[in-house]
Amino acid sequence: MKIAVLGFGNVGQKLANLFHRAGHDIVIGLRSGSSQELPYPSASFKEAVSGADVVAIAIPFTAAIEVLPELADVTTGKIIIDSTNPLNADWSPKLLGQENSAAEEISRLLPDADVVKAFNTIFADVMDKPAIDGQAITAFIAGDNPEAKDKVIALARAIGYAPVDTGSLYTARYLESMAHLNIQIAVGQGGGTNAAFVYLQSKV
Ligand SMILES: NC(=O)c1ccc[n+]([C@@H]2O[C@H](COP(=O)([O-])OP(=O)(O)OC[C@H]3O[C@@H](n4cnc5c(N)ncnc54)[C@H](OP(=O)(O)O)[C@@H]3O)[C@@H](O)[C@H]2O)c1
Repeated sequence: MKIAVLGFGNVGQKLANLFHRAGHDIVIGLRSGSSQELPYPSASFKEAVSGADVVAIAIPFTAAIEVLPELADVTTGKIIIDSTNPLNADWSPKLLGQENSAAEEISRLLPDADVVKAFNTIFADVMDKPAIDGQAITAFIAGDNPEAKDKVIALARAIGYAPVDTGSLYTARYLESMAHLNIQIAVGQGGGTNAAFVYLQSKV
């Protein structure tokens, strides 16, 4: 697949490397347009998205809601992986209301795309070590279109995570709260970001 990764910060770099290692073609979308400094081809957000099958959003949620409306016409029928978390500048939760989430806001901005929430509960610091102490990190995945969600589940498995389907896109509300908890433990309680959620399900 051709995957456009929007943003090349902590998360964008890790996801691009993981997708590339799994055999996918990568293009990086940058607000500054193309850059010769990157290890992958790069382009403006719109050019990157136009040529891609799948788009991974790796920019702040507050930036996403500004730039995504311009991309609505080039995202028709595409899978949009939303890895954002609604945060304030100090990483505190940006509360969107009980019946809302960043993923649902993004879905409303891209009404003809299939938004799938994924990877938002995994710290960038551990994204490229999908296993910790031999346990695969859990990638919780939410989405309304079963086919799109299955593709992201397969992608998550291919890059080394243990995917868990959490249901429809509204369950991103819970996944974003999990990310807030993750930040609270890591930063508020001093636990650090070298940590991840592992969901254990007994077979008996
Ligand atoms: N860090 C984590 O552990 C983690 C884990 C899971 C999910 N997330 C989520 O993943 C997303 C990216 O986080 P990150 O840690 O990778 O952030 P980051 O390292 O600060 O990188 C942010 C990226 O977004 C771009 N950007 C910033 N403001 C922008 C704007 N107004 N318009 C367009 N592009 C803009 C930056 O571009 P420039 O270089 O041009 O500034 C950069 O490429 C966020 O939504 C975050 O909540 C983060």
